[in-house]
Amino acid sequence: MIVNADEGDPGAFMDRALLEGNPHSILEGLILGGYAIGAQEGYIYVRQEYPLAVKNIHLAIEQAEAYGFLGENILGSPFSFKVLVHQGAGAFVCGESTALMTALEGRVGEPRPKYTRSNIKGLWERPSVLNNVETWANVPLIINNGADWFTQIGTEGSKGTKIFSLVGKITNTGLVEVPMGITLRDIIYNIGGGIPNGKRFKAVQTGGPSGGCIPEAQLDLEVGFDELTKAGSMMGSGGMIVLDEDTCMVDVARYFTEFLTDESCGKCVPCREGLRQMNRILTNITNGKGKEGDIEILEELSETAIEASLCALGKSAPNPFLSTLHYFRDEYEAHIKEKRCPAMACKELIAYHIDPKKCQACMICLRKCPAEAIDGGKKKIHVIDQEKCTNCGTCFEVCPSRFGAVTKISGEPVPPAVPEEERNIIRKNTKNE
Ligand SMILES: Cc1cc2nc3c(=O)[nH]c(=O)nc-3n(C[C@H](O)[C@H](O)[C@H](O)COP(=O)(O)O)c2cc1C
Repeated sequence: MIVNADEGDPGAFMDRALLEGNPHSILEGLILGGYAIGAQEGYIYVRQEYPLAVKNIHLAIEQAEAYGFLGENILGSPFSFKVLVHQGAGAFVCGESTALMTALEGRVGEPRPKYTRSNIKGLWERPSVLNNVETWANVPLIINNGADWFTQIGTEGSKGTKIFSLVGKITNTGLVEVPMGITLRDIIYNIGGGIPNGKRFKAVQTGGPSGGCIPEAQLDLEVGFDELTKAGSMMGSGGMIVLDEDTCMVDVARYFTEFLTDESCGKCVPCREGLRQMNRILTNITNGKGKEGDIEILEELSETAIEASLCALGKSAPNPFLSTLHYFRDEYEAHIKEKRCPAMACKELIAYHIDPKKCQACMICLRKCPAEAIDGGKKKIHVIDQEKCTNCGTCFEVCPSRFGAVTKISGEPVPPAVPEEERNIIRKNTKNE
């Protein structure tokens, strides 16, 4: 019996909360599972970056042993069961079931082909059952309350409740446990409190790094395994990253593809080489070096990775690209054809400019600019030296909103600098105004 507590998805912390807060629920589920199938050994594979979780699960094991719930002849019965804790070293691929078992065996955590299911031949070629932390923690509740109690919650295809980690551009971040079948809108607006700072919702990325992005038009989608897959994403372990209007969807695809490229174990070529090429092309596009035909090459590489990768890391890695292409193709085309980032997020495709009619020569941006790219004076209209500017956006952020003199542009030429002789301004007497 194996508990998958690797939780490698960036931004996800559902398993950590359960391991730290209620390790006995997981242990009890595991013992019940062992009893049901006649297993004698259970393993908890937990990432070492979770020191408190590791400590608390050890404590729970000691306590369970002291009460006679774990160990030899549990509660005086012939059933004996022991639990061992294994700390993973933080490789994302080790969350994949076969890679996890290989790592448990003390070898390099790489996936193996699934010719035989692991419940026939898994860890040390023995029949193995592997489930996620949350699954195991549900078992005691189901045994206590009955399967009918559990299945009356949720939808036809997705039963019970699910914990999601709600993060990103959302007012209330944190973990939420909701019934399956709830809509994304309910989670994001009623529970999450909507998007902060008056910004507009753009998409929600679900299912971890190899999940997909679901746009505003699908906010009424009911959350379930099949529904999310049909929408081009997936449930994964339950990560939900909310994105607002300032997020570039091409950059989102690039970010997750880069993560997966780094985390590819390299065992199979379609994943190792294919993701690297996808990452290179996506990076070029966000840097303004995209070419006609790039989308088609990315589609071809996606198809190969899906068809030919050894494990689900490679098979699902094209999701971030494919889902953003499906819902936000116009953003890809703007980057490639017009060298424009519609969300004005890609540094290489934007420029900052000071509107001479609005600049009050207050010196704030000039003082804060880390690149010393702003020229001006107390009574002199400020000008950004485009050669020195690193597009960090500091001037844009610090320019007082009542002036609004710094503007961000993309896909259009920067207006010419104001001639030197026209840069002196006569300050108005604001007190008499
Ligand atoms: C690359 C990759 C990483 C994964 N990481 C995790 C993980 O960190 N935790 C997890 O429970 N499942 C992870 N999985 C899924 C597991 O392989 C397995 O399906 C899951 O643990 C089964 O849990 P469940 O059926 O109880 O939900 C990962 C899968 C892949 C392909």
